[in-house]
Amino acid sequence: MIEVALFGAGRIGTIHAANIARLRARARLKYVVDVDREAAVELASKYRAEVRSVDAALGDEAIRAVVIASSTDTHAELIQKAAAAGKAIFCEKPVDLDIVRARACAHAIGRTGVVCLIGFQRRYDPTFVALKQRLDAGEIGNPEMLIITSRDPGAPPIDYIGHSGGIFKDMLIHDFDVFRWILNDEAASIYATGSCLTDPAIGGAGDVDSTAVTIRTRHQRLVQISTSRRAAYGYDQRFEVLGAKGMLQAGNHKPTEVFAHTAEAISQDKPEHFFLERYRVAYANEMEHFFDAMEQDTAPRATINDGVKALELADVATRSWREKRVIEL
Ligand SMILES: NC(=O)c1ccc[n+]([C@@H]2O[C@H](COP(=O)([O-])OP(=O)(O)OC[C@H]3O[C@@H](n4cnc5c(N)ncnc54)[C@H](O)[C@@H]3O)[C@@H](O)[C@H]2O)c1
Repeated sequence: MIEVALFGAGRIGTIHAANIARLRARARLKYVVDVDREAAVELASKYRAEVRSVDAALGDEAIRAVVIASSTDTHAELIQKAAAAGKAIFCEKPVDLDIVRARACAHAIGRTGVVCLIGFQRRYDPTFVALKQRLDAGEIGNPEMLIITSRDPGAPPIDYIGHSGGIFKDMLIHDFDVFRWILNDEAASIYATGSCLTDPAIGGAGDVDSTAVTIRTRHQRLVQISTSRRAAYGYDQRFEVLGAKGMLQAGNHKPTEVFAHTAEAISQDKPEHFFLERYRVAYANEMEHFFDAMEQDTAPRATINDGVKALELADVATRSWREKRVIEL
């Protein structure tokens, strides 16, 4: 039985707590840690866990794993403390907003050799995984182009935008990771452009809400990432890979597959509303994979180095957007 301490009892922490509880034969949520005591008590009581401080949780030798789902600015310190305490680490993305601090985390993980999974949950989504397996099996030959569409149903509050590190680190970090994972390739050049098209307040906070990014890879493949903070029809998460022998497309998930055929139109459900719904299965698979990696002492599908690489791309894209130029890597 793997005993776990969870840091952060907010939106995503609540999802992870439920997924740990699902695996009741393998893992048990022992502690919940949150600076918001009320949130910690509420979540802990749901799973018969206890509320503890960071140091008390890490000081318990029975705790073999930690799940870091607290605010982004806490990740780096918690990763380093947990690594020093020899705990296996599941940490939400991003590792940090600052690349120097993120690299320091990677060094800490490398030094201690603990398992560390970074929460790029798209790597565990059944549709995306199936596409990746078929691509790797050669179904469409060598991949040449990848087009990623990533649109949120609506923007987060403006005070969140102001502290988010900008759209490239906050939102596209997942798309940069998807590109590296799907193509098993790295960026050679990046051009990123962006506009504020949905809400002038986002521009007022120094950010953009719509972006277009073009990447040329080391293997000369071409990648386009199109993102928006607004899609009137819901969460739009698709990509397609064009290869020598055809194309593979990963589509949106819908709550049901019911179609209505009437005299006016043929209609179906809109895509699942947002990430908590769309990636529900992915989050559960990701947690299971974390415990597999611990038990088998293997590298998880998304490592700390993947977290650092995605952040590097987000930094380069931010610079490309600001300086209005292609950046060669
Ligand atoms: N992979 C994904 O799809 C995904 C989705 C949402 C959020 N996230 C990431 O998860 C993290 C949390 O996001 P959220 O949406 O759940 O935020 P949230 O604000 O709902 O929850 C964060 C929680 O962390 C707590 N907290 C703050 N400082 C702390 C500290 N020092 N120790 C312990 N707890 C502390 C807060 O009180 C809050 O309860 C962020 O880094 C975010 O980027 C990832």
